[in-house]
Amino acid sequence: MKIIMLGAPGAGKGTQAKMIAETYKLPHVSTGDIFRANIKNNTELGKEAKTYMDKGELVPDELTVRILLDRVAQDDCKNGYVLDGFPRTIPQAEVLDSELDKLGEKVDFAIDVEVPDENIVRRMSGRRACLKCGATYHIVHIPPKKEGICDACGSELVQRDDDKEETVKNRLSVYHQQTQPLIDFYDNKGVLKTVDGTKDSAEVFEDIKRILG
Ligand code: AP5
Ligand code: MG
Repeated sequence: MKIIMLGAPGAGKGTQAKMIAETYKLPHVSTGDIFRANIKNNTELGKEAKTYMDKGELVPDELTVRILLDRVAQDDCKNGYVLDGFPRTIPQAEVLDSELDKLGEKVDFAIDVEVPDENIVRRMSGRRACLKCGATYHIVHIPPKKEGICDACGSELVQRDDDKEETVKNRLSVYHQQTQPLIDFYDNKGVLKTVDGTKDSAEVFEDIKRILG
C-alpha cells in the first residue's frame, strides 16, 4: 500500500504517518526527517537543505526527488510506504507518478489532513521533536511521559529551528502556493481522502483507519 500524507505544516502529517506505519507495518518516509537527520550529522546535503529550511522555503525539487527516490528504492519499501512531506510540488508528484508507472504501480491513497491556518501557529509553538527517531510531541496536547525525553527512544527532545512564528507563517504561505495544488492533482486521480485534522489525534487516526480499511 502506498500512502501520501498531504496537509499544511503542523497539520499532523507526521503524527498520523507514525501511527499508520506502526499499525499497517509500513516504513514511514519523511523528507523533512531525512533532511533534519542530515543537518544533525552535518553532511553536505544537510548544509544545503538547512539554508532553505531555516527560511521556511522548500528545498529544490531536484535534490529532494533524488533523496526520496533513493529512499523508496530500499528493500523495506518493497511492499509500500507512507510518504510524509513528499510530494510537495506538482513536479515532485509527476516524478513520483512516472517512477511508479515504470513499476506498474500507483499511489493508493492521498490523505489530506485539514487544519485551518489559525490553529497551526498555536500548535507549532508547543511542538517538541525527537531528531533521532522522528517522534513528535506537543507540550499540551501530546506530552511525552517524561518532560524533554522521547517516549520511543529515550533521546532528548528539541524545538525545531523552523518553528519560530515568522518562519511558520512563511511555511504556510509556501504551502498555499506550492503544495495545496496537489489536492486537486490527487483528487483528479481519484485517490484523495480528506480528514478533519482539528480533532484529537486518536480520533483523526480512527478516521484514517476507516479509509484504509
Ligand atoms: P517537514 O518536516 O515535512 O515539515 P512540515 O510539512 O512543515 O510539517 P511539520 O512536520 O511541521 O508538521 P506535521 O504535519 O508533520 O505535523 P506534526 O505531526 O509534527 O518539512 C520541513 C522543511 O523541510 C520544509 O519546510 C522544507 O524546507 C523541507 N522539505 C521537506 N520535504 C520537502 C519536499 N518534499 N520538497 C521540498 N522541501 C521539503 O504535528 C504538529 C504539532 O501538532 C505537534 O506538536 C503534534 O504533537 C501536534 N498535533 C498533531 N496532531 C494533533 C492533533 N490532532 N491535535 C492537537 N495537536 C496535534
Ligand atoms: Mg512532520
